[in-house]
Amino acid sequence: MAVKKIDDCLSTRNGHLFIEEIDTTRIAEKYGTPVFVISEKQLRSNIRRFQKGFESAWADGPVKIMPAAKANWVTAIQKIIASEGCGCDTYSAGELTVALKSGIDPQFISVNGVPKHKDHIFNTVKQGARVTIDGTEEFDMIESAARELNVTAKVRLRLKPAISGFTRYTDFVPTGPLSTDLAALAYKGGLSREEVIAVGKRVMASDRVELVGFHEHHGRHNASIRYWEEQMKAYAGEIGVVCRELDNYQPGEISIGGGFAVPRDPFGSEIRFSEPYEYLALHMLSKALSPFPGLRYSLISKILEKAMVFRPKGKTAPSIEKYAAACGKTLAKHLPEHGINIKGLMLQVEPGRSLHGNTAIHLTRVMSFKRMTSPIRWNHTALDTTEFWFTGGRYEHHVFDYIFANRTDQKLADKSDVVGRSCYGDRLFPAIMVPRNLQPGDIMAMLDVGAYQEVSMSNFNAMPRPATLLVNQNRVSVIRRAETQDDVFKRDMIPDYLADAG
Ligand SMILES: Cc1ncc(COP(=O)(O)O)c(C=O)c1O
Repeated sequence: MAVKKIDDCLSTRNGHLFIEEIDTTRIAEKYGTPVFVISEKQLRSNIRRFQKGFESAWADGPVKIMPAAKANWVTAIQKIIASEGCGCDTYSAGELTVALKSGIDPQFISVNGVPKHKDHIFNTVKQGARVTIDGTEEFDMIESAARELNVTAKVRLRLKPAISGFTRYTDFVPTGPLSTDLAALAYKGGLSREEVIAVGKRVMASDRVELVGFHEHHGRHNASIRYWEEQMKAYAGEIGVVCRELDNYQPGEISIGGGFAVPRDPFGSEIRFSEPYEYLALHMLSKALSPFPGLRYSLISKILEKAMVFRPKGKTAPSIEKYAAACGKTLAKHLPEHGINIKGLMLQVEPGRSLHGNTAIHLTRVMSFKRMTSPIRWNHTALDTTEFWFTGGRYEHHVFDYIFANRTDQKLADKSDVVGRSCYGDRLFPAIMVPRNLQPGDIMAMLDVGAYQEVSMSNFNAMPRPATLLVNQNRVSVIRRAETQDDVFKRDMIPDYLADAG
């Protein structure tokens, strides 16, 4: 059997896509489509590579990988993360609950986010998890919870270093180029230097709140190594300034947040800053040719055929090991220059997309293929999934990579819009290349959907959300069942006065 490896968990064998040791077309037959499928092997391998990579680059203290729960908070996934000895970055009360329930040690759970509700802060202090202070109003709530519970609350301060050495444009702003350092400063997360120092002084003076270190998260503005080097340099400098203001305080732990790109980074693949000009040129041409409809359509067909093909980026992001080396080594060099003793200092990392992204695929079936030859040439392939289950990706303008799971050995020779089944345009894949003569029943695998997608699905069009499966070699387990049509309506209530109406 001809086996072609794609990554740790995906391979093609005799024209079919396999995840670990299982043919994805058999999964589709047995469990139905659409369905999310997660590889346990890929998840464990990513975690271990992060751990090892950062340990090699940060030799003076311990390393804790604290995956971002927001990227995938399915309980079975959090249990695997706990079993690998990881901590957890949580944002909401729900994420804190699942992290604790899955057995993650509370001292390695960081409760991030802004604004935080009083009850959430109280529970964080009660559970012994870390509060990352990201609003000056949080201090009084933390101190009063600690007093009431008769404990010492452990906190970190979330800094917002200015990455002045990195002015390349951020990938986060789709409308035009904006310098990364400015975009990062405009983002809501993190305290200004003045706020950090003011709240830091209150923490230092408190007998109920202990400062254990610092946190920062600027996220995935840019996939390059230089972005991380400049970010870590800026972070080290900011830590130095704040520590000096806090009577030469020495942190016990520092977190660098997340934001590393997935290898087949789909981020922003739909964004082209030249697009508005291309549309304008097309519009002007189409206006100019309007007295000649035949010529106009045939010319536009030709232009669309050649110019408007979306391809997944094809360029891979740096590896986990390269990111780890850039971060660990830059911090190890610059922190001591700013008076920080790094012996025994714990380095914490909160990867979301880069740890979960390539652990999952989404299997979806072709429901129809429409070929238009006049007045312009254009094809539509409709899937049994929807963009409303990839809202995380729509928000970040992803065009995911894909493989036709039952036709992996066939050339992509036709161009088609590949759309979802909601009543919107649902243009999941705008004008991509597909195998010739797609048929209803063909199976498409969307790649790299393990982070942020499954956990942000909606019920638009009253569609029940699909199941999530976990693959471990030859074994498949349902880790989140599919919703039924009744589930979709189960929160609805009918006021008495409407009960007999209609
Ligand atoms: C505090 C914090 N840590 C980690 C992450 C994970 O980021 P990513 O998925 O880009 O790695 C996020 C995402 O927003 C975050 O807010």
